[in-house]
Amino acid sequence: IPTHIYADAKNASRAVAHEIAELIRSKQREGKMAVLGLATGSSPKTVYAELVRMHREEGLSFQNVISFNLDEYYPMEPNAVQSYWRFMREQLFDHVDIPAGNYYVPDGTVRPEEVAEFAKQYEAKIDAAGGLDFQLLGIGGNGHIGFNEPGSLINSHTRLMMLDNSTRAAASSDFGGLAKTPRKAITMGVASILSARRVVLMAWGERKSPVIQEALEGVVTEHNPASYLQTHPNALFVIDEAAASQLT
Ligand code: F6R
Repeated sequence: IPTHIYADAKNASRAVAHEIAELIRSKQREGKMAVLGLATGSSPKTVYAELVRMHREEGLSFQNVISFNLDEYYPMEPNAVQSYWRFMREQLFDHVDIPAGNYYVPDGTVRPEEVAEFAKQYEAKIDAAGGLDFQLLGIGGNGHIGFNEPGSLINSHTRLMMLDNSTRAAASSDFGGLAKTPRKAITMGVASILSARRVVLMAWGERKSPVIQEALEGVVTEHNPASYLQTHPNALFVIDEAAASQLT
């Protein structure tokens, strides 16, 4: 997988934001929509900050953007402080001119018996939009992409996923302890992610260096779902020097 290594997350994020901006602008020139798959968590915050800056200072418009987020905790109310819907509004959507109704985040309020149908419709909406032009990813310390935890299959689709203990532990400070941290999430599947025409995975910091080494240099395995990106024809890893420190 092609890998670009930057001195720090800020410079790396700027490069990712510029690729997204260039996609949006080239679609504008063609009179088309740009269909983005977006991620939450700490890694993309600097990318969204740069996109907001480009909107404010350089007139980058999001009028022709339609976006689908990877995942949402389950259950989760959209206005809860930990919700990914709220995260996306605070980090990006409230600060740019994306039309209301053009962005989707999996709905953490659907009833358990409705999740399968919801998931099917989420994917149908992506298909109806023409498929993902670009998918932005972070990576969990256990190799998860979206919330496709180890054991997820390459042909998995959008579904309800049991979260790993390590994933819950990493999130527990946001929820006031492990006991209050959700056990599940709705996530786009590995196949849904791999169907994107372009996939960019970001990782910052020493903590991610072992899993990055494994994903890039190890075998393709369900034990590290990010390794599935080795099978994608147009994937890119954008990492900082600390995250690259275990590459051979
Ligand atoms: C979030 C997501 C997750 C995160 C991953 C890394 O939408 O899909 O896979 O990208 O857990 O999180 P951070 O960036 O907080 O280290």
